[in-house]
Amino acid sequence: MDSLSRFRLFSFSSSSLIIVLFLFYRSVVGQSLPFPASDIWAKDSELHGFRGILRDEAVAMIKQLGKISDSDGYLERTFLSPASKIATKLIISWMEDAGLQTWVDPIGNIHGRILAANSSADTLLLGSHMDTVIDAGMYDGPLGIISAISALKVLNVTGELQSLRRHVEIIAFSDEEGVRFQSTFLGSAVIAGVLPLKSLNMTDKSGLTVGDVLRYNYFDPTEEALLELKYDPEKIWGYIEVHIEQGPVLEHLGQSVGVVEGIAGQSRLKVTVKGTQGHAGTVPMHMRQDPMAASAELIVLLENLCRNPEKFMSWSDSDESSLAGLVCTVGEISCWPSASNVIPGQVVFTVDVRVMNNKAREAVLYQLSDQIYQICDRRTVGCTIDNNHNADAVMCDSDLSLQLKNAAHSGLNILSSDSGEITDEIPKLMSGAGHDAMAIAHLTKVAMLFVRCRGGVSHSPVEYVLDNDVWAAGITILEFLRKM
Ligand SMILES: *[C@@H]1O[C@H](CO)[C@@H](O)[C@H](O)[C@H]1NC(C)=O
Ligand SMILES: *[C@@H]1O[C@H](CO)[C@@H](O)[C@H](O)[C@H]1NC(C)=O
Ligand SMILES: *[C@@H]1O[C@H](CO)[C@@H](O)[C@H](O)[C@H]1NC(C)=O
Ligand SMILES: [Zn+2]
Repeated sequence: MDSLSRFRLFSFSSSSLIIVLFLFYRSVVGQSLPFPASDIWAKDSELHGFRGILRDEAVAMIKQLGKISDSDGYLERTFLSPASKIATKLIISWMEDAGLQTWVDPIGNIHGRILAANSSADTLLLGSHMDTVIDAGMYDGPLGIISAISALKVLNVTGELQSLRRHVEIIAFSDEEGVRFQSTFLGSAVIAGVLPLKSLNMTDKSGLTVGDVLRYNYFDPTEEALLELKYDPEKIWGYIEVHIEQGPVLEHLGQSVGVVEGIAGQSRLKVTVKGTQGHAGTVPMHMRQDPMAASAELIVLLENLCRNPEKFMSWSDSDESSLAGLVCTVGEISCWPSASNVIPGQVVFTVDVRVMNNKAREAVLYQLSDQIYQICDRRTVGCTIDNNHNADAVMCDSDLSLQLKNAAHSGLNILSSDSGEITDEIPKLMSGAGHDAMAIAHLTKVAMLFVRCRGGVSHSPVEYVLDNDVWAAGITILEFLRKM
């Protein structure tokens, strides 16, 4: 045995000894103190912001969940997949450990609830999604579920769980990313009662439909059966979701958390550009109708329009703020016949436009198509624009957001009390990505807390949140629950 391993052995056994002695002390001496030992624990932990539960245990849970995957070598956990069933058991055990009553609904959402003493009180929903993209990071989704579980666990440990003013229910939604069926929000849309029936006909790679999968799960998703799963808005007070930012703003500001003002609306277009297919060697340049060169011009136009919308749209002078968060992307392009020595006959590309203000989105789409048709006319290529998908923006509730912001402020002050730092104003952010809160907004008022992630990177295994930022999220929810 070399000296290093002897040292390790020593340090291991000495710390075990301390734990054993400490447990012995608690069991013998703790009983004779004038108040229960758990109070001492609670007071001691309170001073330290419950670091053990809200940071260390929460991070360990996120890592454990991050290992439960349908694939070897990378994280992939899709709607009602085998891995998602293993993850469900684990999440249920954590919820029960936090003192919650649990059940799984027929659409695969996991629920953990604690009832308030006042049975006519309304319910606060907390949650996020348990499914992942392919080759995912481990924080996207689980952070929101686990920060809620650990905040409630603290209240269980301190005995405050019995004196909540409202019922509290955590929901781990079964499908947000929509990887398996290309349809987002299956879980949260059912709870909100907004799942379009045609979604049940969407198929996965093996040809199974959503409806088939639910029937294998002993649930016949008729219209009536689905409506029974919808929550009664009268009984719900609001919904809070913690989620990683998935963008670089908080990191840039040097802040661990921020409050979301709204989730951008989104439109998707498919632009088809038809030209004249021909020989790359024989057709002179001035005689071409080249849809590839035309598409290049259209894509650069789109970039210009979304970078400097004021140059294209006069109405925006009066209300520039309505263009807040405007982003436009061409993410997919294909051409026919796609050969190096052929002038293409046709090019098809997608356009994704997102902005907070719905009217602004319409105006951008209007300008964009107007400009596209002008360029296509000048180049004598035939252009068609299909608008396949529009989702309106969702504004977070201002009162609920203010309460969440105050909770973040008081939570961060507890965390920084040791270092004596004073917490700055909690930043306000806009979400360019969709979240379960978008579906739940059809049911009740929503608010969201964003948590800083390294480099703004998400949907990737290098996605990373500082342990202390996981702590900041947990203590924010804890403070929210205490003051609601
Ligand atoms: C905390 O949860 C446990 C279950 O893990 C339960 O037995 C206990 O009653 C809960 N405590 C409070 C104060 O709610
Ligand atoms: C119980 O909740 C209801 C509904 O929010 C409220 O009107 C009532 O005042 C509450 N009762 C108590 C004792 O807090
Ligand atoms: C779903 O598919 C079935 C069978 O093909 C069809 O009868 C039904 O109308 C479809 N439902 C919707 C809402 O598209
Ligand atoms: Zn997510």
